[in-house]
Formats: sequence, C-alpha cells, structure tokens
Amino acid sequence: MKKWKVAIMGCGMIAQEIYIPQMRRIEKAELVAVCDINADRAKEVAEKFHVPQWYGGIDELLGKCEFDILMDTASIQAHHEINMKALRAGKHLYSQKPIALTVEEVTEQIEAAKAANVKFSASPIHMIRPDIQKVREIIQSGAIGKVTMVRVHASHGGPEYFQFRDADPSWFFKPGAGALYDMGVHGITMATAVMGPAKEVGCMAAISEPERTVRSGAFDGKKIKSDMLPDNYLITLDWGDGCIGIIDTGFCQKASTVNMLEVYGTHGTVTILGELTIGQGEGVRLYVDDPAIKVRGWMDPLPVTEPDREFEQCECLADLIEAIEQDTQTGLTPEHARHVIDILCTIPKAIEEKRILPLHTEF
Ligand SMILES: NC(=O)c1ccc[n+]([C@@H]2O[C@H](COP(=O)([O-])OP(=O)(O)OC[C@H]3O[C@@H](n4cnc5c(N)ncnc54)[C@H](O)[C@@H]3O)[C@@H](O)[C@H]2O)c1
Repeated sequence: MKKWKVAIMGCGMIAQEIYIPQMRRIEKAELVAVCDINADRAKEVAEKFHVPQWYGGIDELLGKCEFDILMDTASIQAHHEINMKALRAGKHLYSQKPIALTVEEVTEQIEAAKAANVKFSASPIHMIRPDIQKVREIIQSGAIGKVTMVRVHASHGGPEYFQFRDADPSWFFKPGAGALYDMGVHGITMATAVMGPAKEVGCMAAISEPERTVRSGAFDGKKIKSDMLPDNYLITLDWGDGCIGIIDTGFCQKASTVNMLEVYGTHGTVTILGELTIGQGEGVRLYVDDPAIKVRGWMDPLPVTEPDREFEQCECLADLIEAIEQDTQTGLTPEHARHVIDILCTIPKAIEEKRILPLHTEF
C-alpha cells in the first residue's frame, strides 16, 4: 500500500489538536514534515509529535522536503500565498478555510491546480460529513417535500474563550479574519451543502463585544481589542422557488441550546442535533407528515455512521487521497468554497447598503 507523504503548514491549535493526532488513523498518509513561520513552534511540534522534519516557511519546505500533499493550517491571511506556492510546485493540497479572501484568488488557485494536474480539497469539511450527507439524501428523496427554509446556527463565544489556545488569538479579530471568515464560513458552507448554490444574500451585523480577554494557554488574561469587525451576524439567503435561509454566526454566544441545522419542508423537518461540530454530530432527527400512510411525528435519531466508526475532521485527507488515487474530484471542492467566499465577500456590501444583493457563482 502506497503511503502518501504529507507536510503540515501552520502548527497552531487546529494542527496540534486535530490533524496531527488524527492523521495516525489515516492509513495511507504519513506525516513527514511540519512547518510554521514561527520556526521555534515548528521545531517544538516536530519534537512533541515525533515528526522527522521541521521548517520555518513555505519556501524552505518546498525547496528542501520531498512530499506529496500539503495541509495548509496556517492563519487565514496566509492561505492564498501558501496555497499558490504549493499548487505551482505540483503538490496536492488541502487548505483550511477560508482558502482565500476573494473570489478571484480562489479562481487563481483552481486554475493553478488544473495547470499542475493536482487535486485540491477545501475546508470546511461539512460536505463529506455523514450527517450532512444524510440530510441531503432525505431532502433529495422528497421525504420532507419542497424545502421552504434552512436555519443554521454557527456561533460560539469567540476563539479567545471557546477553545484552548497557546498561540496568541489576536489575529482572529483583524481584517482578513473576523467572525464572518472564521465561523460564518461554517454556517454558509452547511447551508449551501444541503441546498446548493444560493441566489441572493442579505445581512444584519453588529460589534457587540469590542474588547475581549484570552481565557486559556500562554496568553491567558491578555486583553484584545475586537472593535474592527462585527462579531455578531444574522445572514439571510434566498435560493429562489420559495426557499429562504437564515444563519446566525459570530463570537457572542457563550453557550447555546440551539441545534446546528434545521431544514423545513412542505411535508416535514430534518434536524442535525447538537451545536456546531466538525466531526461526529449527535445524530439526525426527522419529522414526517405523510397523510397517505397516516404518519405524523418525529423519528430520532437516525443512524448516520456505522456503529463502530467515528467520523473525524482528518477524513478530509482520506477523501483527498482517494481522489488522487482514483483521479476523481475531491468531496470538498474549491468551487463550493468559491461560492461560500462569494457570499462572504458580498455580505459587507449588503450590510453597508442595507439591502439584498445577488450572488454570481455556482458549484
Ligand atoms: N475547521 C475548523 O474547525 C477550524 C477550527 C479552528 C481554526 N480553523 C482554521 O485553521 C487555521 C488555523 O487556525 P488555528 O486555530 O490553528 O490558529 P493558530 O493561531 O492556533 O495557528 C496558526 C498558525 O499559523 C502560523 N502561521 C501564520 N502565518 C504563517 C505563514 N505565512 N506560514 C506558516 N505559518 C504561518 C502561526 O505562526 C500559527 O502557528 C485557520 O484558517 C482557521 O480558520 C479551522
């Protein structure tokens, strides 16, 4: 069995908590190098996880290391440059979200992947999650009738509060990042994963917590000014044909009891239980109103994975490797990511102009 050589770019929270530990369970992958602009962190992480090589930047990594797949888990603002360099060097790529900050940048990355004949997979992972797949199946089967509304809950209490952090989280609150790019991307990806490309977007937003305090790790107690970008959003989408959607997203919910996704149709409702999760959810619940068979009620929860199998974020890598080996499209297409970035980029204009605006991309 061929083992594909993987390098990780960006040794922060997501790399250390998710990808490096989970990669051991991806049998066709072998982590050969870690890399970070902060070379000391790359070295520390290499030692901590017994990774053979470490590097201090993308140029050094590409120049000195032999590998097949790059996982870009660096800060949001760094993704476009890293991704372009990796694709041009002929590396298959999985990039953390958002993969770029504009539609044009994503198109540039898609073209670079085509030119180099490499596979390109774009976070977030929602499209290949078993629970999202189950919801798509239920909608496509017609079990809930014509879809009339999608509701998504994609908020938490902020990166300085919600997750353990040893790297300074100040960058999350600066232009190029922010709640919309960090969390809105999840909500919009989930909504479009179940309903396909939207036609129009509107949005209401506020700066609700202009100062924050880091609550864990090496920067515990540090005050962060968070008044440059909104941290609290209500996004509305229109798919046409009587189907609309609403997504709450941001950094202003310390806790919540709202389920992450609910789809309403003319004959029922389907819900993914629990708060936003990227891996294994709490199950899918279906309400069916079918007078023909005299059924009206909830069925819960529907099994979405085999009993002995847990879905993890790093399965994006298994999906990418399968696409490379079978020469097929990845399950997480950059075209879907481009549509999400189209929505992300249109939202600030919709807020400023206080109106609903058209979208120009599909997937
Ligand atoms: N999918 C998810 O659930 C999820 C969750 C959290 C974060 N993320 C995403 O993962 C990425 C990283 O987030 P994080 O929470 O790990 O952040 P982090 O701040 O903990 O780590 C980011 C790391 O990238 C490094 N870095 C910055 N610029 C770089 C460059 N030019 N070259 C190499 N390294 C560079 C930093 O030094 C830091 O070590 C972001 O895109 C974020 O949106 C995804």
